[in-house]
Amino acid sequence: MAETQLRVTNLVLPIFVKEGISEPEEISSMPEVFRYPIGDKLIKFVESNVELGIRNVILFGIPSFKDNIASSAYQSDGVAQRAIRLLKEVFGEKLVVMADECTDEYASHGHCGIVKTSGSSYYVDNDESLKVHARIALSQAEAGADVVAPSSMMDGVVGAIREELDKNGYKDTLIMSYSVKYASVFYSPFREAASSAPAFGDRRGYQMDPRNSSEAIKEARMDIQEGADILMVKPAHTYLDVIRLIKTTFPEYPLAAYHVSGEYSMIKAAVQRGWLNERMAVMEITYAIRRAGANLILTYFAPKIAEWLREED
Ligand code: PBG
Repeated sequence: MAETQLRVTNLVLPIFVKEGISEPEEISSMPEVFRYPIGDKLIKFVESNVELGIRNVILFGIPSFKDNIASSAYQSDGVAQRAIRLLKEVFGEKLVVMADECTDEYASHGHCGIVKTSGSSYYVDNDESLKVHARIALSQAEAGADVVAPSSMMDGVVGAIREELDKNGYKDTLIMSYSVKYASVFYSPFREAASSAPAFGDRRGYQMDPRNSSEAIKEARMDIQEGADILMVKPAHTYLDVIRLIKTTFPEYPLAAYHVSGEYSMIKAAVQRGWLNERMAVMEITYAIRRAGANLILTYFAPKIAEWLREED
């Protein structure tokens, strides 16, 4: 009688890849989540997940070099590009490789675009940023990414990327846009994981106000008009109503929801104290996200969910 089905193919596994390390490093605020060096350990980790039926990963690169224009984000031998190439070489069609497209992990200031100053204040220059985002996306497509996922929330970023990809012969590379991304405290552990906390200011200038939901429709519609193939709502657990709203307003578009780092860490913390049963808590929340209308769920729990789903079969 269950109305909602969750399959392993609904899951997207986020993976951190880091330059300059030789062993995986556990992220202190995200127990059991690691940063991987590019090489055998990364391949082994992905392989174990592919064996469990996971078909989708999204990569986050942590470079050893940062500057104020995020130039390490678009090098052909950059950390994300090398990881994409390696995974496509090893897993080919068995794995959909998605690439987070942003500047924050690659820029000394930690912002999702190009920062300019005027007098003593600073601002993120939207239109300057579009050129960099298009360039990063192209370098990821050239490395073999099946999907590029702009997470900057810059106005026009999807259109700029679509144009750049098409111009260079990457018509089949999909764009999964972080269309509805809230300015959320629940990204804090991720910023530790990727050392991408903004050096000054915050992201409220370009991310959405948690008090708004109609605005989400406007954001998603703009991305559709600019050529997005997959929409996303982020975070997930706190925004189930928005997931439902976007799914019912644009039912013809695949919808992703990102169960983010802070949502992961909250559960882990309670589990470690013996206050929640991990499996029951994670399955209930993941089903809730699916029930709300998400087709794809980005979650750090993907390896565990895949195992539990297999046990249920
Ligand atoms: C930006 C990006 C962020 C996350 C995904 N892509 C950080 C941010 O916007 O501050 C957060 C994901 C998470 O918290 O798990 N590159």
